[in-house]
Parts: sequence; C-alpha cells; structure tokens
Amino acid sequence: MSLKHKHVVVVGGGSGIGRAVVEAVVSLRARATISSRNLDKLNTAASEFGDCVAVAPVDMTDEEAVKNWAQKVGAANHLVITASSAAHGQFANLDMAPVRAMFDAKFFGPYLVAREMLPNLSKGGSITFFSGVLSRRPGLNCSGLGAVNSAIEGLTRALALELGPNIRVNCCSPGMVRSDAYAKMENNAREKMYESTGASLPLQKVGETREIAEAVLFLMTNSYTTGVVLDVDGGHMIRQYATR
Ligand SMILES: NC(=O)c1ccc[n+]([C@@H]2O[C@H](COP(=O)([O-])OP(=O)(O)OC[C@H]3O[C@@H](n4cnc5c(N)ncnc54)[C@H](OP(=O)(O)O)[C@@H]3O)[C@@H](O)[C@H]2O)c1
Repeated sequence: MSLKHKHVVVVGGGSGIGRAVVEAVVSLRARATISSRNLDKLNTAASEFGDCVAVAPVDMTDEEAVKNWAQKVGAANHLVITASSAAHGQFANLDMAPVRAMFDAKFFGPYLVAREMLPNLSKGGSITFFSGVLSRRPGLNCSGLGAVNSAIEGLTRALALELGPNIRVNCCSPGMVRSDAYAKMENNAREKMYESTGASLPLQKVGETREIAEAVLFLMTNSYTTGVVLDVDGGHMIRQYATR
C-alpha cells in the first residue's frame, strides 16, 4: 500500500519518534499534519519539511479542543499518536495527581483523538497507537507507566475488532529509544542510562527514532495487519534478567 499523496496525521509529530515518522512518510511523498501543544515547536519542525507538512496544535487532554482540532484537520488516511507523558516513582510514595495526568495524556488523550478522528479517516486507513515495553517487562518505579501501556494495548485490540474491515488499528511498543523524551536529563546521566540499557539487550544498543518510524510505516501500510502490538525494542522482551 503506497503512501504517495496520502494524508498522515501525527499527534506528537513535533519531536522524537513522531518527528521521525513524519520524516519517513514525507520521504514517501505523503503529506502530514503534525500536532502537539507547543505551536513554536511544531512550526520549527514543519519548517524543516516544507509545504508537505501542516501544523494543528492541540492538547489531547482537552475534550473540546480535540473536537475542534479534528474538524480543522479534516479528512485523513492514517493517524499515528506518539504523544504522551510519563510518571515515575515508587508505588507507595507516588501521588495520584501525576499518575492521573499520565493516564489523561497517554491513554484518554489517544482514546479521544482516535474517536474524534474516526469520521475523518478513509476506508483502508489506519490508527497506530504507542505503548512501550513496560506493559509486559515491568521496571522498578514504573508501575503506572506499565499499567497505562497495557491499557492502550487493550484498546488497540478492541478497536481493531470493532473498526475492521474499514480501519486497521495497531500499536507500536518501543524499547528505550534516543529521543527528546529524555532531553531534560543531565547529559552524562542520560548517556549512562542509554549505555547500561543497551548493554542489557540482545542487540546491545538502545533504539534510534528512525528504527521505530520504519516499524510504523509497516503498521500503516500492511493491509493484513490489525490488532497487533509490534515490539520494536532491540530484544528487550527476551533480555536476560537484570540484577537489582
Ligand atoms: N523514547 C523512549 O525511550 C520510549 C520508550 C518506550 C515507549 N515510548 C513511547 O513512544 C511514544 C513516543 O515517545 P517519544 O520518545 O517520541 O516522546 P517525546 O519526544 O517526548 O514526544 C512526546 C510528544 O508528546 C507531546 N505531548 C505531550 N503531552 C501532550 C498532550 N497533552 N497533547 C498533545 N501532545 C502532547 C509533546 O509535545 P508538546 O510538549 O508540544 O505537547 C511531544 O512532542 C510515547 O508514547 C512514549 O511513551 C518511548
């Protein structure tokens, strides 16, 4: 299935994996609309691609804003939602507010975006959600993140059943990827984290955003794939147990 002249909407397309998805689809002559909260960031990202990328800012946690946004975006072929937020901390000590905020951004946001974009998606189109390895390979201090990843994977399977045969619904589950998600960390700490995680994996490295984007292209264009959670994780699911 070709992406030439198709319209791909990437919520989260201004940074990280979302930006790499935009780069990949544009190289295949699709046009893209990129969305997230920060208009300046979106404009900067779009300016690197030229006329084939439009911007449509939205905060996925605001239901009215998402409804207006979907009307503005209009008809599309494929929807990819990489936008998310995370909450880390020991289960016993983590306040509810950041956990609820994470579910708002990483589960209810994509849920709402998919629901509001549904009438805009053409037959043969697709929705790609994002989870992460923590749903099935938990990490210390990541209980909420593991739970929200499982929720989006469950939603993926349910929607694939309900929206077929017109729309395919899949989920990409990355392992650790060098991305803007870790921009706020101190440089040395971030490199150490990449190095130690990479060393624990069969492929001996953390991922690059481009490698995840290639998997998203497959999910978008393979006409017989739906209801799938695709692990793109350097072998994280089968890695040797780490020592505490
Ligand atoms: N990177 C990794 O190591 C990794 C590992 C496992 C899973 N994942 C998953 O892969 C996906 C993409 O990750 P990434 O590394 O590309 O993250 P990223 O670079 O931090 O991008 C996340 C994007 O979400 C947008 N966003 C956050 N809250 C939003 C909201 N309420 N409404 C609209 N946009 C919002 C942010 O832009 P604004 O600030 O402009 O809103 C940002 O562009 C996420 O689901 C993440 O959980 C990533």
